[in-house]
Amino acid sequence: MERRSAAGLVALWTTIAGSAALLCGRRSVPDLEREIRRRYSEPAELETAWRHTLAGLTAGERRLLAAHLPPTGRVLDIGCATGRVTLALGRAGYGAVGVDVNEAMIRRAGTLRRAAGLPLRFGVMDARRLGVRDGAFDAVLMVGSVIGYIHGREGRRRALREAYRVLRPGGVLVVVTPSRASSWKLRAWFAGMDVLARALRLAGRAAAWEPGDRLGPAWSGDRTHLVYWHMYAPEELEADLRAAGLAVVDASPDAYMMAVVARRPPAG
Ligand SMILES: C[S@@+](CC[C@H](N)C(=O)[O-])C[C@H]1O[C@@H](n2cnc3c(N)ncnc32)[C@H](O)[C@@H]1O
Repeated sequence: MERRSAAGLVALWTTIAGSAALLCGRRSVPDLEREIRRRYSEPAELETAWRHTLAGLTAGERRLLAAHLPPTGRVLDIGCATGRVTLALGRAGYGAVGVDVNEAMIRRAGTLRRAAGLPLRFGVMDARRLGVRDGAFDAVLMVGSVIGYIHGREGRRRALREAYRVLRPGGVLVVVTPSRASSWKLRAWFAGMDVLARALRLAGRAAAWEPGDRLGPAWSGDRTHLVYWHMYAPEELEADLRAAGLAVVDASPDAYMMAVVARRPPAG
């Protein structure tokens, strides 16, 4: 109990001090993005990701992928962490490639290649700059908050343009990411943040965040990190997909982890 309240105080302090530093311009959103990388390199985070990898896909994810992936082909899993989704794809017979910006995650994922005896491939890559040739994949996945960890709308749009580039014409992109429209509490929180941003503008200051950006504590074992993530509004994600040249073919906009499926238009 005492340990829990101490952890709560640390989290509260991390959030207040971090938010103040952000408001005063002593920290920037890119600093927070680096903090996300540090968080995902923590041994506790690697262990959690690995446990999830061994547990595999949820029933909802299995249904989503069965409904939208082609029966065979090459699939790129962006933000693969330790390879949870990549492994499931490999087991289902796809040519699966997992990439993640975090080296420690990819090192751990690499052990799957030997253990699972499947032709899986992994690499360290940033979703905004994929070292992959044009049109190489039949499907691309960004499952579980990956795109939400990219700061700035232009950065997220760049990642979606990269997904478009590496998809073959007619190929499919599946994005699963938290929605800020999925509960009244989230809608109220973000409405409050928008009011604060407007008040700052009136006072001649630009807000350090964009609508939908969220700042808060994340625990990795005993350590608390102040992390940033972006919670999309469904219509915002659909607009960003369209801006990248993709056509939205299916969406579950009401879920907390909303899924949006888009297609690169066929050639010609
Ligand atoms: C919540 S995990 C999702 C893991 C995996 N997709 C799954 O569903 O099991 C988010 C992952 O996104 C990765 N990530 C964050 N920003 C990224 C970026 N710009 N490019 C590639 N991966 C990124 C993180 O390193 C982390 O491993």
